[in-house]
Amino acid sequence: HKIEIHAPGTVANLVCGFDILGFCLHEPCDIMELTLTDSGTVVIEPDPVYHLPTKPEDNVAGMPLLAIIEDHKEHKIGFHLKITKNIKPGSGIGSSAASAAGAVVGANHLLGHIFSKEELVQYAMLGEKVATGVKHADNIAPCIYGGITLIRSIAPLDIIPLASPELYVTIVHPQIEVKTSDARAILKKQIELKTAIKQWGNIAGLVAGILQKDYQLIGRSLEDYIIEPVRSILIPKFDEVKAKAKIAGALGGGISGSGPSIFMLSDHLETAKKIELSMQEIYDEINLSRHTYVTTINNEGVKII
Ligand code: HSE
Repeated sequence: HKIEIHAPGTVANLVCGFDILGFCLHEPCDIMELTLTDSGTVVIEPDPVYHLPTKPEDNVAGMPLLAIIEDHKEHKIGFHLKITKNIKPGSGIGSSAASAAGAVVGANHLLGHIFSKEELVQYAMLGEKVATGVKHADNIAPCIYGGITLIRSIAPLDIIPLASPELYVTIVHPQIEVKTSDARAILKKQIELKTAIKQWGNIAGLVAGILQKDYQLIGRSLEDYIIEPVRSILIPKFDEVKAKAKIAGALGGGISGSGPSIFMLSDHLETAKKIELSMQEIYDEINLSRHTYVTTINNEGVKII
């Protein structure tokens, strides 16, 4: 039978936690339809909007499903998949992770819940590798676990879900595309000790702030001395968006994943909406089309309907 899967977007890095922190969103969210077959392979319906690869080996959802089929050869299973993408590829809101995570959570449901969450993350990371050339779990893990997750290590996999206070998330996606592989290629390979000290102070402060539900501490800790200075040059008006969001009352924020989307956190819906307006104004002034979201942290992750 056919199931419907809701695979939500995610924000990776949380500013200072490059590759180790991420959280799950309510919006945007992809819709997928998955059917268990006996074809021994994965059939992916062509998508009319983004023309994503239909060859399973080249598809971020296809690759993890092929791995599941391979690991269960004795049963001759297969999958038929249709993806309706609402999370634009290259937006920095975890588009590839949503497809990969949605596919494996859906497959697990159809196979009778045979995998643990860690195993699902392992399979889904094969999809991230197709997309960016490297395995990273900071979008996959929050998409599967929901909420905010800390990825202490990916080999061996060590994921720590962090109970979070109520937070509003405002996101602007200026309509340019930044490929994660490009945004990773420009990063410096070495950092100075004094920079590293400031960075890990912030990461520790952020995690403590989340667990203690201390909004001020969260705000103080949302600074990135390593990745943002390099990547922000790829995003038009980045500094202005951040500065105006702070004036509007944001706790803080920065690049969502590898960009170009920018996210800002706040503790009130009214503030989140004010931030949205300020973001819209900035891009309207330069006639750059943009899409905005005001949403909250999704504690559930991928959902089967
Ligand atoms: N941590 C990854 C990066 C996330 O920033 O490259 C990509 O969405």
